[in-house]
Amino acid sequence: MADLTTRLGALTLPNPVMTASGCAANGRELHRFFDLTDLGAFVTKTVMADPRSGRPTPRMAETSSGMLNSIGLQGPGIAAFLDKDLTWLHSIGARVVVSIAGNTAAEFAEVARALASHPSFACVVAVEINISCPNVANRGLVFACDPMSSSTVVGLVHQELPPGTPTFAKLTPDVTDIVAIADAALQAGATGLTMINTLLGIVIDTDRLRPQLAGITGGLSGPAIRPVAVRAIWQVAGAMREGRIDTAPIIGVGGIRTGLDALELIAAGASAVQVGTATFNDPSAPRRVRDELDAALDARALTLADAVGIAHRRKVQL
Ligand code: SIN
Repeated sequence: MADLTTRLGALTLPNPVMTASGCAANGRELHRFFDLTDLGAFVTKTVMADPRSGRPTPRMAETSSGMLNSIGLQGPGIAAFLDKDLTWLHSIGARVVVSIAGNTAAEFAEVARALASHPSFACVVAVEINISCPNVANRGLVFACDPMSSSTVVGLVHQELPPGTPTFAKLTPDVTDIVAIADAALQAGATGLTMINTLLGIVIDTDRLRPQLAGITGGLSGPAIRPVAVRAIWQVAGAMREGRIDTAPIIGVGGIRTGLDALELIAAGASAVQVGTATFNDPSAPRRVRDELDAALDARALTLADAVGIAHRRKVQL
């Protein structure tokens, strides 16, 4: 067995595999397939201040290499989430990353404040600040499209959390310069980055010749986006290695189905990975990915720490 221990700043996890936010609700369903404590951490569905029904249906569309969702941050709101979902996750001993969002920077702060004051905050190992959900009515509300907005949100969230709480800003690849956004989030106090959220797309129903999704646009996830995730992680990790931005841990997400897929993101610079869309047709995918990653590292006589960013050290010299 390989040493899968990973360090994300001051946070140490026994292995680097997490769920991706939104692909396993708040854990109860997945826990029927395997023990959530087998994962490095469980990442919750993004929660906002108030209950939300999300965007109109249909809001899922399949493509040949992944799927589009336009869920629109459906959820119970922070109060019900804390009392029902986080309390349950705490009771089973899960290490929890809570994904939070807001319609405004102030709402992000409100959610963080409520989270930090709940007794079950004890099981929260990190907060993921989802500044990149593509399914919002106004593109201007994708905070991660703008360095200044990203910085404002991260800064306000930090003021509400106990000092030292690890935070990860979740970024979108749908920007011209992801390094600039990463820099802004880190300067504002984020411990690290989660990359990437889904890419904005549209699927047309060729019988009805109209958009399949009621919300028209949706976020593309699945195998098609893995090379985009690897590219984004590579660019940001590269900027860190060259001293252009602060060094910080990266959680990689995007199209991981196997342990070798996970190893790709890790070799590009991720210290942990999240498994999302694969969970829909194989609920045990996160734990299987952990086991396959373990075998892949073992076969290469590497620890996880050795493998993080290894491809930067091995790239073909021109
Ligand atoms: C959604 O609920 O619309 C998906 C959330 C996200 O992609 O950040």
